[in-house]
Amino acid sequence: MDTVSPDSGAHDDQRRVPQHVAIIMDGNGRWANQRNRARTWGHREGVKSVRAVVEESVRRGVGTLTLFAFSSENWRRPPAEVSILMDLFMSTLRGEVRRLNDNGVRLRVIGERGAFSEKLQRRIAEAEDVTANNRSLNLQVAANYGGRWDITQATRRVLSDVAANRLDPAAVDEKAIAARLSFADLPDPDLFIRTGGEKRLSNFILWQSAYAELYFTDLLWPEFGAAAYGLALDDFAQRQRRFGLTGEQVANRSGVDDYERR
Ligand code: IPE
Ligand code: IPE
Ligand code: MG
Repeated sequence: MDTVSPDSGAHDDQRRVPQHVAIIMDGNGRWANQRNRARTWGHREGVKSVRAVVEESVRRGVGTLTLFAFSSENWRRPPAEVSILMDLFMSTLRGEVRRLNDNGVRLRVIGERGAFSEKLQRRIAEAEDVTANNRSLNLQVAANYGGRWDITQATRRVLSDVAANRLDPAAVDEKAIAARLSFADLPDPDLFIRTGGEKRLSNFILWQSAYAELYFTDLLWPEFGAAAYGLALDDFAQRQRRFGLTGEQVANRSGVDDYERR
């Protein structure tokens, strides 16, 4: 990854750059199979697309990028593939931290990390510590993550706060739940991209993507680079987000900011 810096001057209207992009990086296995190679080769090649998209996010001034690397359901894959994915996660964490630092990228892992080996959990914590003060981009890697898991763990936290008298059951509203979800300190995804041609959410960020703009591309993840990502960002910039209002209301900007601040 080359060293890059945010290029704020290149975009007249910063509101049109999504603050948070979430991506389902799908299609590694098919990409490798098309080339008569093992699926796991596709996962390795996919790391190059991760670098390209991280760099482009810094360049474009995207504040937060969340990448779906391993879902709660991916444990159901053949054990050999799961094991190679874990090794790849481990070696990528080790190999990329310096470059993330050079680019001012803060790394966080979201998901149920207790299921990973102790060694991998330590490596994750180290990478998070070493990059904790970086400010150019929040990079979240979703690993053993599921949208339903996230809502469930938030519910558990609500219940334990109620049981400890820290929270009144009558005060449990959307904000109270949202505050206990993963990355409650960051904005919700504005743009939700899925590569690989499938048009489904696959239990990725569910609650927080309630008003995300969806973008699907047939490109397989290893084929998705800075140019394809740029097209998705440009497509987003053309969209009118209405948040339940009429197009006219949005054009006059009345009410929109109120929703965005929620
Ligand atoms: C996405 O690519 C990566 C992970 C789920 C880890 P896939 O491995 O799902 O690739 P396809 O969908 O089988 O081509
Ligand atoms: C979603 O892709 C998970 C990741 C990209 C990590 P999958 O390939 O696992 O999704 P499904 O099973 O086809 O819906
Ligand atoms: Mg897939």
